Amino acid sequence: MKVSSKPSLTWEILTSRADRPRQEVFPFNTGRCEYFYSARYALAAALDALKLSPQQSILMPSYNCWVEVEPAVRSGAKIDWYRVKTDFSIDEDDLLARIRPETAAIFVIHYLGFPQRLENIHRICTERGIVLIEDCAHALLSNDGDVPLGLTGDMAIFSIRKTVPIPDGGCLLINNPAFSVNRPRRVRPNLFATYFVVSEMLARGSTTEPKRVNQMAYSCNFAFARLARMGLRGIHKIFQDHGDYLVYPSGNHFNEQVKHWMMSDVSSAILRGTEFQRIKERRRANFLHLLDKLIMNDRITLPILSLPEGVSPLFFPVIVQDRDRVYRQLKDQGLSGHDWWGDFHPAVPWDKYPDAVYLKTNVFGFPVHQDLSRESLGIMLAEFSQCL
Ligand SMILES: Cc1ncc(COP(=O)(O)O)c(C=O)c1O
Repeated sequence: MKVSSKPSLTWEILTSRADRPRQEVFPFNTGRCEYFYSARYALAAALDALKLSPQQSILMPSYNCWVEVEPAVRSGAKIDWYRVKTDFSIDEDDLLARIRPETAAIFVIHYLGFPQRLENIHRICTERGIVLIEDCAHALLSNDGDVPLGLTGDMAIFSIRKTVPIPDGGCLLINNPAFSVNRPRRVRPNLFATYFVVSEMLARGSTTEPKRVNQMAYSCNFAFARLARMGLRGIHKIFQDHGDYLVYPSGNHFNEQVKHWMMSDVSSAILRGTEFQRIKERRRANFLHLLDKLIMNDRITLPILSLPEGVSPLFFPVIVQDRDRVYRQLKDQGLSGHDWWGDFHPAVPWDKYPDAVYLKTNVFGFPVHQDLSRESLGIMLAEFSQCL
């Protein structure tokens, strides 16, 4: 049995899509979303909208993946950092103590879809005219009580492709009408780039579609896509053109030319047919199942011990010693989890934030996504115990 770390794109999902009415779900139902190739470009547009000067500063969380730091660095503003605790919550005292007259924006991340407490931070931002940006990259479909995550701040970004199996897609929600996106042009993603990612996703296979014939067809198609990409890479080397066809949504790259890209038509069509409520229910059920199975395990630490109403979790975090070995050992058996955030952006003063380093080095994520059954989780749990 294979367990993938992300939900799979199947032929059914790809083809049973556009004719359905769009699902009325936040933030898409606000009519205020601006769509991008991925969330990092949505953040870049949010920061552009602020027109920050080099004297102003952004207050960012010390625990971050890298990708969200890059647009802040590129904005040209100074960056200050605040502490995040080992249960993924913001150290509010530390954050508030670091606000200075130059602070123009505060950036908060709702890690893994779990809401940060924003009452005080939001109040102080309003009082002092500081812009609050919510990073909901992990938090599509998550609520804090009745309030959807992303509705409190002046702006919010979402990485839709982390929750729904689409080849690309992120969005920026602007809640404060004082700001607007200045997008001189909107460009459709390169068709070959989209085709390549779709081929890869189909070929990676699915835990829900074990039909061999289909799998072979997807593998052949992906082999062709890879070959074509190699050829195009050669062309790019010779002609030094933009190389749009080589753009790939994952990894840490920030590509200036992609700033103008929209979400692809394939992603939009899949979103129209997506049953968001079912996704959230499955993720919650899988998370609760893992919590039940792992809470008594004294060889690991659980940084999150409950699942509040309204949360749609990205994955189930555990803190393990020798995380990278455990991750690799499971992966070698076809059981993919998350070695959550192994990359350290050079702009962050890591020596001042041992808690962030601790999380970045030790968090292993059990997938809880919508494709996973109790059976597949059971197999992964059994192997995980063996690895400890
Ligand atoms: C917290 C956070 N913010 C933003 C992003 C950027 O998302 P995307 O990969 O869609 O650009 C990521 C991606 O890993 C992330 O983890």
